[in-house]
Amino acid sequence: MAYKISYGDSTYVRQADDSVLDTLLAQGIDIPHSCRSGVCQSCLMQALEGVPSEAAQAGLKSTYRAKAYFLACCWYPEEDVVVKLPNTADSAVAATISEIEPLNHNVVRLRLIADKPFDAIAGQHLTLITPHNVARSYSIANVPDEEAYIELHVRVIANGKLSSWLLHEAKTGMAVYLRGPAGECFYVAEDEKNFPIILAGTGTGLAPLLGIARDALRQGHRGDIHLFHGALKPEDLYLVEYLQALSDRYAHFNYTPCVLHGLDGKFYVRGDIQELVVADIADKKNTRIYLCGAPELVNSLKKKVFLAGASLAHIYHDAFLPSK
Ligand SMILES: Cc1cc2nc3c(=O)[nH]c(=O)nc-3n(C[C@H](O)[C@H](O)[C@H](O)COP(=O)(O)OP(=O)(O)OC[C@H]3O[C@@H](n4cnc5c(N)ncnc54)[C@H](O)[C@@H]3O)c2cc1C
Ligand code: FES
Repeated sequence: MAYKISYGDSTYVRQADDSVLDTLLAQGIDIPHSCRSGVCQSCLMQALEGVPSEAAQAGLKSTYRAKAYFLACCWYPEEDVVVKLPNTADSAVAATISEIEPLNHNVVRLRLIADKPFDAIAGQHLTLITPHNVARSYSIANVPDEEAYIELHVRVIANGKLSSWLLHEAKTGMAVYLRGPAGECFYVAEDEKNFPIILAGTGTGLAPLLGIARDALRQGHRGDIHLFHGALKPEDLYLVEYLQALSDRYAHFNYTPCVLHGLDGKFYVRGDIQELVVADIADKKNTRIYLCGAPELVNSLKKKVFLAGASLAHIYHDAFLPSK
């Protein structure tokens, strides 16, 4: 049976395997979207008629679920429905750019001050919405509770929609919108805060890992914390001096920058981050492992640390799925 999707003044027939997002994009309608996998939440819409499925509301805040918001890439309605884009002012918090600063040749630090409280935990991700309605997910790299701003690390992708806006249009004082936060990848204080923590990622995967490490230190975590930041080339690393200073300040915080195509005897370790991480797991039962960044690395490392004996319940991960 064919079901209909009404949007604006028009009604479209949903093809059997198409989501609401697929149906509207096929009509040339510009619905913000990115991962098309239910992760980034950039395709948020609202149902005016019809009841969104559980899968289409997975991971959404209860206030969003109550307003019948849903993820358009995950809803395959088996009834006729009427949908709309949410009013940005109702579904997101306005924020002002307070700082834009390069951290290396392709990573930019963005600091944002939200107009209203934006209750986010270091390591979660939010949806950044530009004035032109481009929506992309970014992880929270600082401890917003402690600071008056939210920090994001944005990798600049050649010809990327958000990257281009950041390079050519964004400036301090500009207004943007933030939606969320979402995600379960954050520090949880339990077991007397004695357990070891390993954090590993490449590129801007450092963003949530840095937030999580700082949050754990702030909460008085007592177990060892080891942060591995991997790169292909030395110039892909960033915040090296800051992280070295943090490890000088806290005896139980270790920082290992590692470079796959590097040289011996430098400020980093030459080698494969995956081998270094696996070799570092001493207390297999209790170590909490956080993996963030490129999906291939996160998935591969998740398998390797599990096969090395880490408990699945103690592996937290956030893969930065690119737009499709
Ligand atoms: C949960 C989550 C958290 C994230 N956190 C961060 C973060 O903290 N920092 C960060 O920089 N990014 C993060 N991302 C990725 C981010 O949302 C965007 O996908 C990325 O910034 C590219 O956006 P863009 O608009 O510049 O490029 P787009 O317009 O989305 O992409 C342009 C083209 O490049 C391709 N592309 C995009 N990304 C990559 C990539 N990594 N490798 C190869 N090709 C690619 C796209 O498929 C597309 O063809 C996260 C993603 C998710 C899902
Ligand atoms: S959650 Fe739908 S596009 Fe990412």
